[in-house]
Amino acid sequence: MSRITVVGTGYVGLVTAACLADLGHVVIGMDVDDAKIARLRQGDIPIFEPGLAELIAAQGNRLTFTSNPDEAYRDGEFIFICVDTPPMYSGDADLSRVWKVVDRLPKSVGHERVLVTKSTVPVGTGAAIKAELCSRGFEDIGYASNPEFLREGTAIADARYPDRIVIGADTPETQDRVAGLYERLCCSNILTTDVASAEMIKYASNAFLATKISFINEIANVCEAVGADVRVVARGMGLDQRIGPHFLNAGIGYGGSCFPKDVSALKQLAGNSGYHFQLLTAVIEVNELQKRRVIGKLRRYLGDELRGKRIALLGLAFKPHTDDIREASSIVLASRLLAEGATVVAYDPIATDNMRRLLPCVTYAASALEALQDADAGVVVTEWQEFIDLDWQRVKAVMARPLLIDGRNALHGAGLKELGFEYEGIGTQIR
Ligand code: UGA
Repeated sequence: MSRITVVGTGYVGLVTAACLADLGHVVIGMDVDDAKIARLRQGDIPIFEPGLAELIAAQGNRLTFTSNPDEAYRDGEFIFICVDTPPMYSGDADLSRVWKVVDRLPKSVGHERVLVTKSTVPVGTGAAIKAELCSRGFEDIGYASNPEFLREGTAIADARYPDRIVIGADTPETQDRVAGLYERLCCSNILTTDVASAEMIKYASNAFLATKISFINEIANVCEAVGADVRVVARGMGLDQRIGPHFLNAGIGYGGSCFPKDVSALKQLAGNSGYHFQLLTAVIEVNELQKRRVIGKLRRYLGDELRGKRIALLGLAFKPHTDDIREASSIVLASRLLAEGATVVAYDPIATDNMRRLLPCVTYAASALEALQDADAGVVVTEWQEFIDLDWQRVKAVMARPLLIDGRNALHGAGLKELGFEYEGIGTQIR
């Protein structure tokens, strides 16, 4: 059992704190946001993540929260940096919050501490932090990069059953100490390496997954032109073990707080080092265009003039099981439609409030059926199960024109066509 301080109680921090406490460690979550800490102390979890509230509640005294740095750092043998590193206008990651943590570290507390970075930081950040610590006479502090690979919506399972744990540290002692924290997970893939390689593994993994998505999206676009079906193509490709079946679902682009940010940051990192990462430039551009692809499809059915048309957006979150709308395709799509003069009516099971703050000009419905009422077209933007389970016969009766554009290839297109819908997916052939 170790004493751990987790700095940052956002998405990564809370999941990390809860899972480390669940492994038997004594964890204190620290955040500069007093209001957030007050909520957490009441058991009120400020983010939506399935199972997280229950997991935090189950930890009892093993997991506490504070906004007082003295209290937070007093006993921590391991200090996890879990603050966010949002993109700046240049595409670089903003590391100001990471540096604030480093700058506020107190002098030695009588035992050897390890500073562990979970935040996604550009390669070279760990070396800079280590140099800064040394220059301030904090040589007793070990340093490790321990990137996270959690997906929103399945973060608890991802943390409990990780495909791999990556630990980058300068010394075998630090590597072993951090690895020891995860002993009870029984993960057979613990990769210990140097700090820079660990930092790069995180970026390369996210950039590769984003590349896979942009690749299959381009294949989908070509499938539309040549009469093939991308779903079958993806299945056929994925059966090759060298390719694998995952992240080959074509759609209207990837979003979220990670892929767009990390792909840009890696491209920027390469550029800052004098290397032009051409492939990532294409990955980003393909994704931006893919987010707009629905507009062309709507025009084909409704005519060039979308002004005055009523378009229902089903789903706003960047993916199901989250209320996160950061970089969501829905933002681009809704804005484009509004710019065309269309009336946009949107519904999402949990992300509506977040979107309302960002795009007040959209009309928000209380249910999918309400959004589809009198609509000239419905667009599936996020593949929530409740859309798949809709009573489509009823939907057809309430729509002005039974036209569905399925941006996630989630619905049963053939069945919908039989019901009398005009239906189109992304790269699919429904006959
Ligand atoms: C992603 C990674 O999957 C995690 O491993 C990583 O830890 C995390 O970023 C992070 O860096 O913190 P996340 O952003 O939660 O996780 O979401 P994903 O499930 O990866 O989906 C990202 C986007 O890709 C979504 O918009 C989703 O709709 C889209 N996607 C995913 C596709 O369009 N097609 C696919 O086949 C898969």
